[in-house]
Amino acid sequence: MTKKKILLTRRWPEAVEKRLSEDYDATLNTDDVPMTTEAIGAALADYDAVCPTVSDKLPAAIFNGGHRAQILGNFGVGFNHIDIAAATGAGLTVTNTPGVLTDCTADTALTLMLMLARRAGEGERELRAGNWAGWRPTHMMGTRLRGKTLGIIGMGRIGIATARRAHAAFGMKVVFYNLIDVPEDHIAGMDAKRMDTIEDVLEAADVVSLHVPGGGDNTHLMNAERLALIGPKGMLINTARGDVIDQAALVAALKDGRIGGAGLDVFEKEPEVPAELIAMENTVLLPHLGSATTETREDMGHMVADNLDAFFSGKPVPNPVS
Ligand code: DGY
Repeated sequence: MTKKKILLTRRWPEAVEKRLSEDYDATLNTDDVPMTTEAIGAALADYDAVCPTVSDKLPAAIFNGGHRAQILGNFGVGFNHIDIAAATGAGLTVTNTPGVLTDCTADTALTLMLMLARRAGEGERELRAGNWAGWRPTHMMGTRLRGKTLGIIGMGRIGIATARRAHAAFGMKVVFYNLIDVPEDHIAGMDAKRMDTIEDVLEAADVVSLHVPGGGDNTHLMNAERLALIGPKGMLINTARGDVIDQAALVAALKDGRIGGAGLDVFEKEPEVPAELIAMENTVLLPHLGSATTETREDMGHMVADNLDAFFSGKPVPNPVS
């Protein structure tokens, strides 16, 4: 039987590329140069499956023409880079990789939180620049997390995992906002309090961590008014999607001291990062590393492969996006 033709738009972990190359007629992006939207659109006509990532853009327009592709196996849990309605409307099945990156993304949120609270980036920069003048009682004092309140916006898998870590490791109190009810057993043991509005969370929390999907109604969910509610000592952590924060409003709020600091793993127009954010000492900035461990990236790749295998053998895909 002829093998199905599949395209991986970026370099994937070697073990998964090997598996897919054995089972499929796989085209690998060995140079790892991002593909243009036009090239991805053209690939839809040539391949049975296209496997994009968050670094690609798949707008409605590319699904208008005739296509050979039947499935988009997205390497990642977030899919706001794909116009899902247009893709599914054009008859494509779309899958993603939920669950396997929960722990690593929550770890990244905690990394940002700790680095920001304890001024770790700032301290490291000082030391590497040769400017450390030695220990002194008032040197680079940060904020103790124990006993502080963590506000989670979006209490799904990653929000819950972040809250659990913060509560267990630092004794943080947890308040959260979620659109729909969260089953009691999912949040058992951390005394987490559901608030009626996002504003309630922002007012109650010392640290706010965002865990909602990007795009749609969540674009600029954190606007200037909401950012101001975090307060001059408050910290904002984002490991979700850059567009959830109005980035220009965040820059202004940080500059004016209306918010204490921000730890960001995601940005509105990646890989662009505003120079103002880079110049500030009260920011911690990471290059979208949320799920970036060898184990997790391999798990993500295998999950895409499992979805393709199911699809092409006529079985229901395990992780459909609707
Ligand atoms: C995700 O899985 O959504 C991560 O942000 C990487 O794509």
